[in-house]
Amino acid sequence: SRTIFSGIQPTGRLTLGNYLGALGRFVDLQHTARCVFCVVDLHALTVVHDPKELRRLTREIATLYLAAGLDPAVCVLTRQSDLPAHTELMYLLESTAYVGELSRMIQFKEKGRGRPRTRVSLYTYPVLMAADILLYGSTEVPVGDDQRQHVELARDLAIRFNRTYGPTFVVPELSPATVGARVMDLQNPTTKMSGSAPADSLGSIRLLDPPEVIVRKISRAVTDASPDVGYDPENRPGVSNLLEILAGCTGEADPAALAGKYDGYAALKRDTADAVVGVLKPLQNRYAELVADPAHVDATLRLGAERARELAAPTLAAARTAIGL
Ligand code: TYM
Repeated sequence: SRTIFSGIQPTGRLTLGNYLGALGRFVDLQHTARCVFCVVDLHALTVVHDPKELRRLTREIATLYLAAGLDPAVCVLTRQSDLPAHTELMYLLESTAYVGELSRMIQFKEKGRGRPRTRVSLYTYPVLMAADILLYGSTEVPVGDDQRQHVELARDLAIRFNRTYGPTFVVPELSPATVGARVMDLQNPTTKMSGSAPADSLGSIRLLDPPEVIVRKISRAVTDASPDVGYDPENRPGVSNLLEILAGCTGEADPAALAGKYDGYAALKRDTADAVVGVLKPLQNRYAELVADPAHVDATLRLGAERARELAAPTLAAARTAIGL
């Protein structure tokens, strides 16, 4: 049977990229399989952080899970640090992973390698992510493009552990988004849209941006000198990103097919802004209600932790035994 696991890190305000690559898909997936969706707060300790802000962001993301439409009666919503099994399994997997393969992780190379104040936890981050995934017997991991290599590592570690110590883990599959797997920054469309962009950046659309801010950011989005609208991510990243966002927010499978409907940027930007606001406005309305009831969010996470503990226990026990503990 299918089991789906995914997580979002509380390191910044969630963006439209997080939504199209991950959160929005979780909402559809929850009815199709057993699902565990986690706020991965331990992962946020891998870079400079402020403890108070971490706690605030963790709650914000848990609230956004609910606001987006994840239903705690249908799927398990949890917080990584509530479950010591994640870090315990991480250690067993650290004793399975090689220094060489972690050194090849693109995100580590970009964010930390060779810098004097790089945290050890940034280096071992993909092993914790593998533990998150393997602990629940996950068959599928819906993530954006930037997490592809980490999911492949989780597969490699599962295969290696099973070969060395006997069948223990389900080998997960990557489940990439077909549209919106890599939403780009609106000002800088060759880099991905990121939650850690400066707060006043026009390039990142935050899930909680008011509609008029969304409209302004999209109307100022960088395009290119060609007068026509065309889909060509390689050579025309700005306009292609807008088409990708429009497709992602309207359920259109093929962003290239949308290009032909437009003979200018003004109409494309107007429709894209309408589509984004159409998707985010209901989420923001529910968020406003939920934020007034923090006890409900806390209760959801408590219930999620209980259920996640039960789901994780057999795999952790099997891994401990297999490895010789
Ligand atoms: P994180 O917190 O950076 O991002 C959460 C999810 O959002 C996706 N994403 C994007 N998708 C499309 N376009 C973008 N611009 C964009 N930016 C982010 C990410 O690919 C991700 O799916 N290490 C993970 C969190 C994690 C995890 C896990 C995920 C920890 N354990 C286990 C899956 C399974 C991370 O930092 O994602």
